Amino acid sequence: MADLFDFGLVGLGVMGRNFILNVADHGFSSMGLDTDPEKVEALKSEGSHVKVDGSTDAATFVKSLSTPRKIMLLVPAGKPVDAVAETLLPYLDKGDIIIDGGNSFFEDTERRITYLAEKGIHFFGSGVSGGAKGARRGPSIMPGGDKEAYEHVRNIFEAASAKVNGEPCVEYMGRGSAGNYVKMVHNGIEYGLMQLISEIYDISNKGLGYSNEKLAEMFGEWNKRDLQSFLVEITAEIFQKKDDMTGKHLVDVILDKAKQKGTGKWTSQNAMDLGIPVPTIDAAVTMRELSALKDQRVEADKMYHTPSLGTNKPDAKTLEHALLFAFVVTYAQGMTQLTAASKEYNYGLNLETIAKIWRGGCIIRAGLLENIRKAYDKNPELANLLLDEDFVKMIKTLEGDARIVVQFAIRSGIPVSGLASAVSYFDAFRSGSLPLNLIQAQRDHFGSHTYERIDRDGIFHTEW
Ligand code: 6PG
Repeated sequence: MADLFDFGLVGLGVMGRNFILNVADHGFSSMGLDTDPEKVEALKSEGSHVKVDGSTDAATFVKSLSTPRKIMLLVPAGKPVDAVAETLLPYLDKGDIIIDGGNSFFEDTERRITYLAEKGIHFFGSGVSGGAKGARRGPSIMPGGDKEAYEHVRNIFEAASAKVNGEPCVEYMGRGSAGNYVKMVHNGIEYGLMQLISEIYDISNKGLGYSNEKLAEMFGEWNKRDLQSFLVEITAEIFQKKDDMTGKHLVDVILDKAKQKGTGKWTSQNAMDLGIPVPTIDAAVTMRELSALKDQRVEADKMYHTPSLGTNKPDAKTLEHALLFAFVVTYAQGMTQLTAASKEYNYGLNLETIAKIWRGGCIIRAGLLENIRKAYDKNPELANLLLDEDFVKMIKTLEGDARIVVQFAIRSGIPVSGLASAVSYFDAFRSGSLPLNLIQAQRDHFGSHTYERIDRDGIFHTEW
């Protein structure tokens, strides 16, 4: 049976073709399936140097794969995943493995795992991050599901993933929908970091008058230090790019309405369900929603005046510190959510492993992730990154500058919900006492909801 293919992939869009070529480059013969013959042809021509083939027919595709079959889906999240699974099912055998590499909602993954398990099929929800380039050159992969079944795909994923210091950016994440959940929170953090960068851009541009050239240089410099990260790196590139049509800077002709496909919102929604505060991620989702209200914003802009600029202007170093501070806080929120989700959904997540596989390949890869990995290596039970001694030292050097930047922005009328939420989250988290005693008093006053006391045990109620 030497002719059977090692790996199958459904969905031969750019991501799918890139991933299958990446797998094939590492010596695994691969077969693609797509209903669009043009995409199948594109795969064949792009993969003429490796053992790759493609088909538009599900039966031909499935029968060409060695068992247990390892079939990855890179199709849009939602109904297409169910539809593809149904198309493949009649030809599959017990023990075959379907891996969903899309941004599927984790509850859908749970449903699919149960449904397909009844038919003897292992279903894996596996986050894949890194965009089209990552898929081709090495993404970060977050597989979750049946641990034994994972052993059949391990060598393929390890070969295809990004590497940091020779270590693959893929590991088994945990049970059930763990892979999709981890990817969802990855995207929540991604939303947070992107929002923070955009606020620093706003302050630098509108508040300090920095040109795009200066911004490119500034982000480029930052990328050589503690803020080193994929998102900071591409931001520097973006400020250099000229528009082919007008010759202007491309960033200046792009409409300021940010779209979203749902993963950031799901992160926020589920954090609420878990009772875990992730205000910087919430702010990032809210800002995308606010950005969509372009017409109303333009109208309101004419009705209100913009305050004059604040006097205590931050310099580039202060901005750098503020962004680093808020980056740490955003990672802290996301990691805390993962800790809670692992307990709630019995995923068995290992936070150190997650930080490790996020160091390369994915959109939120950053030098900071090595510090985060170390923190969870030192203490796997760490309740919050902000309690790690090394992060305490780092945050202490940055917090003052974060305050200066937020103060300047608020004084100047520049919206900074991401940065301000990071500072407020930090202030609330480091406050041994909060004014929420008053809320307890109010609840007891209007609804006899009772309260606890600081000076004795028990539950109390007062006739106010
Ligand atoms: C990744 C990205 C990827 C996708 C974003 C975009 O990790 O490679 O996160 O999955 O580009 O999810 O999401 P929005 O369209 O919601 O911004």
